[in-house]
Amino acid sequence: MNQTVVLAMALTLSLCWEVHAADAKNLAMGASQPLKGREVYMQSCAMCHSPGIGGAPRPGVSEDWAERAKKGPAELMVSVLRGKGAMPPKGGNASLSRGEAYLALDFMLNGDK
Ligand code: HEC
Repeated sequence: MNQTVVLAMALTLSLCWEVHAADAKNLAMGASQPLKGREVYMQSCAMCHSPGIGGAPRPGVSEDWAERAKKGPAELMVSVLRGKGAMPPKGGNASLSRGEAYLALDFMLNGDK
């Protein structure tokens, strides 16, 4: 084997390695994609809202929402971000982004789409 061949092989190998590294990075980024509404709800809202603890309105139970829904989603979102009554801001999960909190609210109001 002459030196050029060895060099070419070494180059090819290092290129492959870089592609793999990029794949691994993409996968890692995929893992931190924003959560879906149902997931956020299950993690941060369900413990109060599914059983209706402290008068928390239960998703899918229309009489729980009759009065509240009149405010519209924007006003309800303010309650989610600031907290309301026994509900702490963002349901107590300060690490939620606004977007994630909105997805959870949307899931509560409209279910899976
Ligand atoms: C610690 C229990 C608890 C958690 C966790 C919680 N909530 Fe609530 N939530 C409540 C209670 C209690 C109320 C009723 C508050 C009131 O009207 O006095 C409420 C009310 C609401 C309302 C109606 C607000 C209004 O203006 O009438 C929305 C919307 C809501 N919650 C969304 C969420 C979302 C979205 C999450 C998760 C990110 C969440 N909640 C997590 C207890 C909780």
